[in-house]
Amino acid sequence: MNAQTDPVSGSRLSQRLRAETAQQHERMHVLMEQCNPFADLGHYARFVAAQYLFQRDVEHLFHDAAVKTVVPDLEARGREEASLADLADLGVAVPQSALASEGVGMPEALGWLYVSEGSTLGAAFLFKEAKERLGLSETFGARNLAAYPRGRALAWRAFVESLDAPALGDAAIQDQVIAGANAAYDRFGSLLEQHFSRSVESEDVDRSEAREPAL
Ligand code: HEM
Repeated sequence: MNAQTDPVSGSRLSQRLRAETAQQHERMHVLMEQCNPFADLGHYARFVAAQYLFQRDVEHLFHDAAVKTVVPDLEARGREEASLADLADLGVAVPQSALASEGVGMPEALGWLYVSEGSTLGAAFLFKEAKERLGLSETFGARNLAAYPRGRALAWRAFVESLDAPALGDAAIQDQVIAGANAAYDRFGSLLEQHFSRSVESEDVDRSEAREPAL
């Protein structure tokens, strides 16, 4: 038996998600590099605005009972509140945007959660930059990048266990989760694009969403 497959129904969902959305993850790296969120507090505030709107989309899905059934420790996840507190620390207006996850349900919702939970892994590197380059911390400005209280690795492992539950072994269901993950990556990518505009160098301040597009 191959370590990557479930004996009954094929590939594990976590493995498929990782393999089949790898290009999207790479795209996020490229976008983040272009946006340069740690150049200064102005750039960083734009990142937090995008993060807040994305986390709000994701946490909207936490209210769905079917999602709670699959991921029982949901209440320990999500960074909407942390992002909101970071925006306040930075003195930035709360951005407004229609929810992008309205009407999303299981199994797609799980793909959205995957992108958000997975991003907590890369956030370890981003957190370090926020601390070292901008002087922020888990109690001021960089709460949204800080580890969950039980630690990144444990929280991620528990989430992967939820993804790889036998009930999610069916390939057609997995396809829908992957579609949800692609939609979530697209949403985060477009939030970054909206919040980092072409005039990023002349950053002085209305950091809210209603600014000229640019990048
Ligand atoms: C420059 C920014 C980023 C860096 C440096 C980064 C880095 C990483 C690293 C090191 C991992 C762990 C890989 C592993 O365990 O082998 C990871 C995983 C992941 N990241 Fe990122 N990441 C970044 C941005 C993002 C963004 C913006 C998102 C989504 C909005 C994201 C979503 C994910 C996901 C879903 C995973 C889990 C992949 C898996 O299935 O194992 N990352 N990232």
